[in-house]
Amino acid sequence: MERTLILVKPDGVKRNLVGEVLSRVERKGYTIAALKLMQADRGLLVQHYAEHEGKPFFEPLVEFMMSGPIVAVVAEGNRVIEGFRKLAGATDPTVAEPGTIRGDLARDQGTKVVQNIVHGSDSVESATREISIFFPEL
Ligand code: RTP
Ligand code: MG
Repeated sequence: MERTLILVKPDGVKRNLVGEVLSRVERKGYTIAALKLMQADRGLLVQHYAEHEGKPFFEPLVEFMMSGPIVAVVAEGNRVIEGFRKLAGATDPTVAEPGTIRGDLARDQGTKVVQNIVHGSDSVESATREISIFFPEL
């Protein structure tokens, strides 16, 4: 069964949207296989966002992701990686389609890095790598 890593980012936790995000995942029919509320540290985030190291938004992104607790989730189901990316919507919440998590619940806040409620793995390889970073016990 395919698995993906979902993160409810600090903006989502601060705005009490954890239940809303999980509800959309569950209503779509995916299964929550693992779940934890945690404070991510720099080392973990540098590993997680390795592909973005050197980009102008990298440091603001790491700072943002350390700004408060996050919720890490492993969701399971056929084609869940693609399916959750569709539920999340486009990276930029201003242009994310209404009906998506980012389109319905986020907007441009004028911050250095775009705050868009959730992360979702973008491939089987990323999912495997990211799940092992956030859930080494699995
Ligand atoms: P994610 O990894 O969070 O699911 O989002 P994504 O695939 O849609 O976007 P990605 O390109 O992987 O970027 C990771 C996160 O970095 C922030 N970002 N800010 N130009 C910018 O200000 C910018 N570009 C990316 C966002 O928080 C994005 O979700
Ligand atoms: Mg990404």
